[in-house]
Amino acid sequence: MDSIGEIEARALQELSAASSKEEIKELGVIYLGRKGKLTQFLRNISSLPPEEKPEAGKKANILKKRLEKEFKAAVERMEAEEIQYADHIDVSLPGRPVPIGTLHPLTQILREICSIFQKLGFDIAEGPEVESDYYNFEALNIPKNHPARDMQDTFYISENIVLRTHTSPIQIRIMEKRTPPVRIVAPGKVYRCDSDITHTPMFHQVEGLLVDKKITFGDLKGILTAFVQQMFDEQISLRFRPSFFPFTEPSAEVDILCVMCRGKGCRICSQTGWLEVLGSGMVHPAVFENVGYDTSKYTGFAFGMGVERITMLKFGIDDIRKFFENDYRFLRQF
Ligand code: PHE
Repeated sequence: MDSIGEIEARALQELSAASSKEEIKELGVIYLGRKGKLTQFLRNISSLPPEEKPEAGKKANILKKRLEKEFKAAVERMEAEEIQYADHIDVSLPGRPVPIGTLHPLTQILREICSIFQKLGFDIAEGPEVESDYYNFEALNIPKNHPARDMQDTFYISENIVLRTHTSPIQIRIMEKRTPPVRIVAPGKVYRCDSDITHTPMFHQVEGLLVDKKITFGDLKGILTAFVQQMFDEQISLRFRPSFFPFTEPSAEVDILCVMCRGKGCRICSQTGWLEVLGSGMVHPAVFENVGYDTSKYTGFAFGMGVERITMLKFGIDDIRKFFENDYRFLRQF
């Protein structure tokens, strides 16, 4: 039978050579299992001469404890190493693609509209969505009893504070700060108390304003024609219909040839062959006076268009509410 010293030396040497958890567990069986070498040694102590028994028993029990501890520690070291390898990053692997979304169709068209005007020399301007009665109405020559102020249409925050009902107040804010020439487009959200398949309580407009010496209605027509033909295509003609806005004089509503039927008449244009896309006109002298511009020196034009309307025409969308339902199946198509 092996001496306790031999068992100890062999066990420790084999343990240091072991390279896996499985090998260590096997060593556990070989030395400490029911038929293991050390177990057997302990069992045989009873057959030793009486004077050797206490010493042998003591050594064997110390070794047993030591091996149990060393085997356990070795298994734990292996496990820690496995975790480290599992965490190891292979920097040479190609990255996993992160699924990215698309821009909302309204954002796409809003940016396209702005970029067309930027190429025509316009700056981008912005203003607050919570607006005072003065900027939203008063300064724009909209009198106190004007139907646009009706409680049905305007969201009132308090008597003198509203959610802006159009982007036109930005005209005033810009003119107060700058001297002509002024050439801006102002995109943004506007609010009206209205909801059906062609109206949502929040929608988007892009306002345009150009003020300089000798600006005429011909300039307005030229700029808007250039815009529409870049936005849609060169064959789309425009029609200016006399209209009324308190802040422009003369005023015109602008129709474009129906982009769906090209003038033949269809459901989209209600058989008229034309689509109304924006309001426009020459800036009213009363507005210039409100911002301190010299009306004998300067003239200008302004226009405002609905972004939802243009996006619906561009993409053939028939219900405005789809823009705001955030149904991924709808949004991912653009
Ligand atoms: N603000 C007007 C509207 O919301 C549109 C408009 C803007 C008309 C500028 C003329 C000039 O209906």
